[in-house]
Parts: sequence; structure tokens; C-alpha cells
Amino acid sequence: MKRIEETRRRTAVVTGAATGIGAAVTERLAGQGMHLVLVARDGARLEAAAERLRAEHGAQVSTLALDLAHQGAPSRLAEWLADAGTEVDVLVNNAGAGLMGPVADSDPARVRNLLDLNTGAVAELTARLLPAMVARGTGAVVNIASTGAYAPAPYAAAYAASKAFVLSFTQAVWAETRSTGVRVVAVSPGPTATAMNTRRMPGKREPGAVADTVMSALRGRGPAVVDGRLNMFQAFVFGRLLPASAAARIAERSLRKAALGSQSSVPPGTP
Ligand SMILES: NC(=O)c1ccc[n+]([C@@H]2O[C@H](COP(=O)([O-])OP(=O)(O)OC[C@H]3O[C@@H](n4cnc5c(N)ncnc54)[C@H](OP(=O)(O)O)[C@@H]3O)[C@@H](O)[C@H]2O)c1
Repeated sequence: MKRIEETRRRTAVVTGAATGIGAAVTERLAGQGMHLVLVARDGARLEAAAERLRAEHGAQVSTLALDLAHQGAPSRLAEWLADAGTEVDVLVNNAGAGLMGPVADSDPARVRNLLDLNTGAVAELTARLLPAMVARGTGAVVNIASTGAYAPAPYAAAYAASKAFVLSFTQAVWAETRSTGVRVVAVSPGPTATAMNTRRMPGKREPGAVADTVMSALRGRGPAVVDGRLNMFQAFVFGRLLPASAAARIAERSLRKAALGSQSSVPPGTP
């Protein structure tokens, strides 16, 4: 992919763009002169974010309120972009949801909804927008995974498994597109101070720091990047050094209290 610095007035589509990590990424992309398409469910919040980006960066910003967990939503987004004649240069699949608690106590519909958003929409949007990038020989897809992708996470089982899908899917697509001029990369944050993770915990990172990692991942070459040194170390230990059974047992012990103490949509230590 051409360096983002060189890509004046190109267009990025960012999902989950009005808050947290997505909002920080849109700031960086707008700061580099890109036009933006912001997608999430809350239309008013998206429009407020768009207004800020227009005022601060002079960016051309469009918004589309869409529930990406709904079947048909990714195709609706792709059609909407095509109807507007928008060529997508960068796709950031950032929208995601968490679910905390034992699977046996979970609402099965919420488990399914999480998977539809965290995996189905990511894979479908990639498959819909990638071909035009490959045909043009330039572009980028960034899929936001999580350190939870690297090992099983008891009490956040579906969430971590969904992010393992994102990581594996992205690594495979990276290999498929290596010689096409298109940059494909998974970025895995660890605990980050956003609405999704309001728990107080040591080593928590700010969304802006994750956005900086996303920007350097866009300039890099490998298929996967973990945000922050401590997170990198943990992903290495839990994902590569320990067998999955040991990683799951250790994680279960350390996450049990937090998970059973407050069942919510917020994943515990491995967000
Ligand atoms: N925070 C962490 O500790 C952490 C760690 C690792 C990975 N991550 C990942 O980082 C990404 C961003 O999360 P965040 O931490 O920045 O949390 P966040 O501020 O809650 O952002 C999540 C975004 O996704 C959007 N979204 C949620 N459900 C959606 C749906 N069904 N359709 C379309 N958009 C939807 C939300 O907007 P609406 O509510 O308006 O739809 C929101 O803007 C997620 O993929 C998350 O899994 C977060």
C-alpha cells in the first residue's frame, strides 16, 4: 500500500467510529488528510463525531447508522458506498461487543449477536471491500482483534474466540494478498480505557496509544501487531509458551472473581 502520508484525500471506512479506539483512529486518519465514512448504530453520536472531525481537520466525513450484527448490514454498507461512488482506500473493522460471564449462564441470543458482529461482519466487510483494493493494487484493511485472541478466556469465552477468529482470518488474508499492494493487518489491543472496559486495572492503555499502534501497523509489513509491550509479553506467554489447557486454567483462576462478581457485557482482564 502507498504510505498513508502520501494518500491525500483518500477515503477510510471505520466501524465503531464515534467512541473509544475507533474515534481515536478517525482522528489520526483525518489528521493525515483522509476523508472518512463513520459507521455505528448511534446516528446522533456519529454525526457529533463527524462534526468534530470536519471542524478540526477540514475532512469530508459521511456517517451511516447501521447495526452491523444484522444480517444484510455489511452488504447495505457496501451498496451505500458504491451508490455514492466512494472508493474505499482503508477499511478499519473496529466495531465490537463483549460479553462476560460463564457460558452456561449466558443469554444464547447475545452470544450469537456477539459472533455476528465480531466475526461475521468483519469477514463479510473484508470480503466485500477487498476485491476493489486488490484490483487497484493499493489499499489497507485493519481488523481490530484483542490480546484475548491469543488464548482461551474463561468468562469471556465467546468474545475471546471471536477475536481468535479475527486474528486467524486476518493472518490468512494477509498471506493471500501479500503481493497485491494491499496491506492487511490485525491489531490486538489489551485492556484499553473505553466504554467497553471501565474497570480499574494496572497497565490499561489509552485509546490514543492504540490508534498510534494502528497507524504504525498500517506502515508495517507483518500480519499481526499487539498494542503495548506488556500486552505483547502476555500474548506471547499465554498464546505461545503455555499449552492451551494451562493458559485456560490460569486465566480461569485469575478471572473468576471479577467475572462472577459482576456479570455484564464487559469482558474481564482479557478484553
Ligand atoms: N477496550 C478494551 O479493553 C479493548 C481491548 C481489546 C480489544 N478491544 C476491541 O476494540 C474495538 C473497539 O472497542 P472500544 O474499546 O473502543 O469500545 P467502545 O468505545 O465501546 O467501541 C465499540 C464501538 O462499536 C460500535 N458498535 C457496537 N455494536 C455495534 C453494532 N452492532 N453495529 C455497529 N457498531 C457497533 C459502538 O457504537 P454504537 O454503540 O453506536 O453502535 C462503539 O462505537 C472492539 O472491537 C473491541 O473488541 C477493546
